[in-house]
Amino acid sequence: MNHPSIDPGVALNGKTVLVTGAAGFVGSHLSDRLIALGAKVIAVDNLSTGKMENLSGVAAHPNFLFLRADVNRFDEVATIFGKRKIDYVFHYGALAGVKNVIERPLEVFKDIDGIKYLLALSHANGVKKFIFSSSSEAYGEPLVLPEREEGPLNPSARDPYGLTKLVGENLLYHYWKVYGLPTTSLRFFNVYGPRQESSGYGYVVGIFMRKVLSGEPPTIYGDGTQTRDFNYVDDNVEIAIRALLAERANGQTVNVGSGKPVTISELARKIAAAAGRLDLEPAYLPKREIEIRYRCPDTTKMKDLLGYEPQISLEDGLRRTLEWYKSHA
Ligand SMILES: NC(=O)c1ccc[n+]([C@@H]2O[C@H](COP(=O)([O-])OP(=O)(O)OC[C@H]3O[C@@H](n4cnc5c(N)ncnc54)[C@H](O)[C@@H]3O)[C@@H](O)[C@H]2O)c1
Repeated sequence: MNHPSIDPGVALNGKTVLVTGAAGFVGSHLSDRLIALGAKVIAVDNLSTGKMENLSGVAAHPNFLFLRADVNRFDEVATIFGKRKIDYVFHYGALAGVKNVIERPLEVFKDIDGIKYLLALSHANGVKKFIFSSSSEAYGEPLVLPEREEGPLNPSARDPYGLTKLVGENLLYHYWKVYGLPTTSLRFFNVYGPRQESSGYGYVVGIFMRKVLSGEPPTIYGDGTQTRDFNYVDDNVEIAIRALLAERANGQTVNVGSGKPVTISELARKIAAAAGRLDLEPAYLPKREIEIRYRCPDTTKMKDLLGYEPQISLEDGLRRTLEWYKSHA
């Protein structure tokens, strides 16, 4: 497909962009990039899992404003919109991570409120585009591989996180179709990179790296043949900014991933190899009920609509991430 080239530095210079979940892993990288592109960033986070240190590179920038607020409370979101003109919204704030979801399932559903409030206020205040971080969990256990946006969904009634993301996607589509608010839902597969939570409440790359760097074997739930797709955070941010600026992505749901899934055993081996600790054979534990067996995104729509292919290989991304964990022991 032919792509009109939009220079994000020109398109975003001086624009006001609201980023929710900005003190989290992906939101903080997105905030860094938006500031570098000349945007004014209003970073919102309730600091439930996010950390201010993630924003240390931009906190003092004149175009950066941090507001501590809970986006699941209407009054708090209304105050943010009441005081300033917002051009664009990235709604990334959410309770995420497998362990959090298992331990606090009913809290996950509260995030539906935040999506509703942000959409309503974005529409009422003339926001030009609204991007939502959905998830591959919207597919549930896939019925067909690779997973295509227009293909079948198999959401599990037991997974509040996937269900919440699906409701969010549908609300975004409603606001586009009924009210003409330009929206795009991005179905992130596994994103990884510096700053990602690596405690037991974190994500597989960080968890494995922490283990290996402390001389322990990575722990795998299940037999290790389950597949996941990994997207380095810089690529993820670039894709999200393209989605923001691409009119052709309005009203669409788009997979965001590498399209090159690996098994979890293979991931553990690559991380051990990057750390020079191939002697650390993974330890295997029983499968967790909530976990999905296969993830494999079809990234055709992402490439067609956004004209972008991830640039950072898994090996390179793992090397960069490992360096960060080494220097943030
Ligand atoms: N990291 C991944 O692999 C991945 C994959 C699929 C989807 N996603 C989605 O991408 C988004 C960002 O994920 P992440 O990995 O950066 O997670 P994260 O936990 O690092 O960041 C989420 C941020 O949202 C904040 N937050 C949570 N609830 C909030 C609320 N009610 N009000 C204000 N702030 C709130 C948290 O404090 C945190 O800083 C999330 O919506 C997540 O569901 C992430």
